[in-house]
Amino acid sequence: MLNPRGISNKKPLGEASLKTRITQLLGIQHPIIQGGMHFVGFAELAAAVSNAGGLGIITGLTQRTPEKLALEIARCRGMTDKPFGVNITFLPAVTAPDYPGFVETIINSGIKIVETAGNNPQKYLPALKSAGIKVIHKCTSVRHALKAESIGCDAVSVDGFECGGHPGEDDVPNMILLPRAAEALKIPFVASGGMADGRSLVAALALGADGMNMGTRFMATQEAPIHLHVKEAIVAASELDTRLIMRPLRNTERVLANAAVDRLLSKERELGSKLNFADIAAEVGGVYPRIMQEGDMNAGAWSCGMVVGLIHDIPTCKELIDRIMAEAEELIRHRLEAMLAAA
Ligand SMILES: Cc1cc2nc3c(=O)[nH]c(=O)nc-3n(C[C@H](O)[C@H](O)[C@H](O)COP(=O)(O)O)c2cc1C
Repeated sequence: MLNPRGISNKKPLGEASLKTRITQLLGIQHPIIQGGMHFVGFAELAAAVSNAGGLGIITGLTQRTPEKLALEIARCRGMTDKPFGVNITFLPAVTAPDYPGFVETIINSGIKIVETAGNNPQKYLPALKSAGIKVIHKCTSVRHALKAESIGCDAVSVDGFECGGHPGEDDVPNMILLPRAAEALKIPFVASGGMADGRSLVAALALGADGMNMGTRFMATQEAPIHLHVKEAIVAASELDTRLIMRPLRNTERVLANAAVDRLLSKERELGSKLNFADIAAEVGGVYPRIMQEGDMNAGAWSCGMVVGLIHDIPTCKELIDRIMAEAEELIRHRLEAMLAAA
């Protein structure tokens, strides 16, 4: 568009900001969130994403105790003055983590954004809300998203079937799930699962989302404090290389194929409905430090999304986010607008 003096009033490519309900709610520059990731979401990554204008998130339970989480939050504050959040994942566990202690630490540390995931966070919402914390609940179905809205969550992160980690049991991919969420929800939501670049962001916005959440893509960045072997495995993998494990336990997880996953899947086939968690504990229990920190790529199963097929490099978080925003702007202003103009 030209202004009255014939000069384009569009900002140059790469300087675009997209204002959405999510950027406004969270006070961030770009509608891009880094989801909580066990043994990946440390202060270094969260700070790098936030410094680049997105929302970085520290994974609460990776810090084994509330005291350690308080230290990690302080470490992150030392690396950024931008907003960042904390993920707290409510999972069924034999010995439950000290959830009340983690919530208290989050509140006392002055955190203003929390990503919850797993079970319904209702029990902790009054405390979080009265501390002025914005709660984004991550879920994999429209009914769970509506439940989150009804209990007072501020936003939801809608995880499609493509996602790394736990896609739930409904198997609805984002091409359907996101417009369904848009039809049903009043609160803002971000698209999660399969998001990698400017195309993902523009598509997510077109389908009704207010931004996007990425997991796997942020693992293959310079600042992700994980072993280079993991980043190289992501770059080398294609969209055909993920597997679904633990389906018989109704605790489905999307992981990258490797020798341990092959072993696990053959146990699942052999034992069928008789499978218990104990049968596969060697492949899934406590394996993350060996994979993420020591780079032992066959030590066990680790969450990874189908989006690996779209990841071809290991940029800094700033390079990645700037590239996403420039690509999104190019798509909106040129590819899409040109189609409209040509019609
Ligand atoms: C290695 C890894 C670990 C993850 N750990 C957690 C976690 O502890 N809690 C959680 O809520 N989500 C976890 N997730 C899910 C991500 O936050 C995010 O929802 C998901 O990765 C989005 O799909 P994508 O990988 O296709 O981007 C994990 C994902 C990965 C890849």
